[in-house]
Amino acid sequence: MLIKKLDYPKVPVNLIDAELKKIKHILDDPESASEHSWGYVTELDVEASIKAFKLDKDSILVKWLDDNIGEHYWSIHIIWGGNTLPPHIDPGRTYGFNYVIEPGGTNVVTKSYEPREKNIKELGLGVPISYDDITCVQEELCSKNKWYSLRVDQVHSVEGLEGMRIILNYSSPEDEQELKTIWNARQDI
Ligand SMILES: [Fe+2]
Repeated sequence: MLIKKLDYPKVPVNLIDAELKKIKHILDDPESASEHSWGYVTELDVEASIKAFKLDKDSILVKWLDDNIGEHYWSIHIIWGGNTLPPHIDPGRTYGFNYVIEPGGTNVVTKSYEPREKNIKELGLGVPISYDDITCVQEELCSKNKWYSLRVDQVHSVEGLEGMRIILNYSSPEDEQELKTIWNARQDI
């Protein structure tokens, strides 16, 4: 299974709301966020875009997550601007662990694919991948306030978006060192 539902606890709404309040200016105008120097930004210039924002270690939400889920490099991902985040492979990550804060619509599905003929490396990292080169092997409607794990080193997409999707995210511990390097490098942008 490339997408798995996890039996982790629900995150208190007041902690989520407090965190979203801090990034309200980003949620109101996500394009402007590329001007900011804080955070790891991945943009696929086809249809929807995705950006990730590192959460402040001192925030009450991070404290709750560290205590109740585990100590991780916590971030919030937003996806906006189109109805599909195209098939892609995340650079530098193997697993993504996601908590759905806002699904972005009632029929938003996360899909996982296997390559048809080319191998994963030939398909490219962090770039949109053609549907001609892949076959969908799993499709899940990931519900609000639930946790999921996703193999992000395999091809995946998000489809059926009607509005902004907001996800709380962490990566597997073996990915975190790599992410720290990427994030730190990007702080000078
Ligand atoms: Fe991804």
